[in-house]
Amino acid sequence: MSLVTPMVIFQGDLATAIHELAKCKHGVALTGAGLSLASGIPTFRGKGGLWEKYDPLVYAHIQCFLHEPEKLWQMQKELLDVILPAKPNKAHEALVTMERMKRLACIITQNVDGLHTVAGSLNVLEFHGNKRRLVCLNCSNRYPSERYLEQCPPRCECGAILKPDVVLFGEQIPIDVLMRSRSEASQADLLLVAGTSAVVSPASDIPILAKNSGCFIIEINPEITPLTGYVSDLFLQGPTEEILPMLVEGLQSKTNSDRTP
Ligand code: APR
Repeated sequence: MSLVTPMVIFQGDLATAIHELAKCKHGVALTGAGLSLASGIPTFRGKGGLWEKYDPLVYAHIQCFLHEPEKLWQMQKELLDVILPAKPNKAHEALVTMERMKRLACIITQNVDGLHTVAGSLNVLEFHGNKRRLVCLNCSNRYPSERYLEQCPPRCECGAILKPDVVLFGEQIPIDVLMRSRSEASQADLLLVAGTSAVVSPASDIPILAKNSGCFIIEINPEITPLTGYVSDLFLQGPTEEILPMLVEGLQSKTNSDRTP
């Protein structure tokens, strides 16, 4: 059920979220496409989502790349035209500040736009890869995505057609990223779940793994998800580009007030 409403924040919840963030020992964030919407990058699901226009099991499936790479590149080019010029928004910047305040040890992102790293976050696990890179499945060479501007679909020096360095449907999450993400989730005592519909596994398993390890889950989204009311301990309803800066503001004023003798 879509419960799209403007920002609805109960001050008590905000205060609780700030209190939990201030005292956490190992905070982790799990982010999704909603966090990059304010940077002009469409989400996948919901109104105006990419999957309204492209069938993911055709345009984002490894079999499509292997048998009809030109077709896959039709959507990939459209996305790269939006991702490469995109800039981080206030949500990305807020997470950078949280990392610098030692409130976040790690960001696990489902996003492939690379904007957390562009914003300055240092410990980012790219669960689904990064569209700013291209990879050759024939010889494993990697290139910057700008290469597609010269020719589309872009080719490797070995002659093979290059693939965006992302996890397509039908592919496995790189085992090192999967294991590190699971380790972070099981160590976390606070998990911020920001801007994800939480419907795609194994990323959607992360909040459940964290919860089972005793983690406090704060979910930020304008809409409810399968986590809301079941896995999430706190639901801050609204856009991340507005709510995350409010959390940082609260953390900073709490730090200042705690500091004054
Ligand atoms: N701030 C926060 N969340 C928002 C905002 C916003 N301003 N606007 C929309 N959202 C929420 C939507 O309510 C939705 O829950 O962002 C979520 C976007 O959901 P999806 O489009 O499903 O994106 P995501 O959860 O990241 O998808 C997971 O699915 O197709 C695969 O590989 C793709 O990584 C992607 C994965």
